Amino acid sequence: MDRILIRGGRSLRGTVAISGAKNATLPALAASLLTDEPLLLTHVPHLRDVTTMLELLGQHGASITVDEQLGVEIACTRISNTTAPYDLVRTMRASILVMGPLVARCGDARISLPGGCAIGSRPVNLHLAGLEAMGAEIQLTSGYIHVKAKRLHGARIVFDLVTVTGTENLMMAAALADGRTILENAACEPEVTDLALCLNNMGARIHGAGTSTITIDGVERLHGTHHDILPDRIETATFLIAAAMTHGDITLTHTSPYLLESPIAKLRQTGMIINEQEESLHTCPKSEGRLRAINIQTCPYPGFPTDLQAQMMALISIADGSGAVTETIFENRFMHVSELQRLGADISLQGNTALIRGVPHLHGAPVMATDLRASASLVLAGLAAEGETLISRVYHIDRGYERIEEKLMALGADIQRLS
Ligand code: UD1
Repeated sequence: MDRILIRGGRSLRGTVAISGAKNATLPALAASLLTDEPLLLTHVPHLRDVTTMLELLGQHGASITVDEQLGVEIACTRISNTTAPYDLVRTMRASILVMGPLVARCGDARISLPGGCAIGSRPVNLHLAGLEAMGAEIQLTSGYIHVKAKRLHGARIVFDLVTVTGTENLMMAAALADGRTILENAACEPEVTDLALCLNNMGARIHGAGTSTITIDGVERLHGTHHDILPDRIETATFLIAAAMTHGDITLTHTSPYLLESPIAKLRQTGMIINEQEESLHTCPKSEGRLRAINIQTCPYPGFPTDLQAQMMALISIADGSGAVTETIFENRFMHVSELQRLGADISLQGNTALIRGVPHLHGAPVMATDLRASASLVLAGLAAEGETLISRVYHIDRGYERIEEKLMALGADIQRLS
């Protein structure tokens, strides 16, 4: 099992290109099931979750080709199998995204129940309630969700709480349903908007994506298109935090500050200097002193993203003063706390809030990655720590960060992967 070894203390300097967003790529890939024509996606990041989704599409009957510019073309001319098996779904919860498209196109989907995961129980009840409201019949048997519908029909669906993949699943299902579907309290995440853009380019009629009310007028069929995946806002912010924690001076290209208004505002509160351009960001160290500790609370977009909570906690760990991090989206998303403590962070937990007293320095130690974003926080802490940090179970990080050690190495970090 691969590990990452970091010798901390080096300032990051240089330029790094941000990859396409994982959380926009996965639903766009699932959308290929809605049409018998090829869908070409560009800026697809090379990630383990993307490979898993491609494997899943392959076993539904998709033919997949990758061109020289790493564009991925998926052609679901015929769907040969509507089952998403346990072996794939258990490694990636986002596999649930094939459910809406399969039912809408084939009238049938059998999806293994995703089950628990490291950051809480994460049910899919809202996805199911939405499909039921659209006329689907749902049975749970032998660990599988079986969804059937001759043809889905439009419905007004009010989500109890904001769900990103739930919004995406129902938006895809509604694109081929009979009549109008209205999603209320829908997720406003940029990745939802990116999916709506892709679907509209395929012939769907979706309005209001990016707001909490999305209206979808179902159409008879969708066609192929070319869609360029939007930049990964979580990767962008992770590199900004890496620069902040190492007094770095870096430029991030192929990204957009407009995707990151809340994280950028929070990072500026720490005293960090961030210069915005249309498609790039530059950060350099503040002239003197340590960064200031701040408080954050995770919220659905446009609030502070839960996917940056762990990385921000790593930063506050070495800031001046005390800060609090409150997690409101997921239960049990504090697995990184005990690992950051191993590196010398002073953190105590009170319910869903972590209280952090900044320390002047972290010290390298062996640590274990527990989930995707937790692993990123350990890499950041390792970059800032004195001495050597050895991170095990880095397969978690490969799910969501493209060539992270290569990108950091190019910025001057002393980091290597041990196979
Ligand atoms: C997506 C992102 C993930 C991010 C999360 C929150 C993808 C592939 N993943 O995950 O990176 O951390 O949004 O921004 O885009 N819930 C229910 N019932 C449901 C669905 C969700 O109770 O049917 C709850 C979840 O347990 C959680 C909250 O709603 O507490 C938000 O989850 P959700 O937005 O659905 O997360 P994902 O879409 O899985």
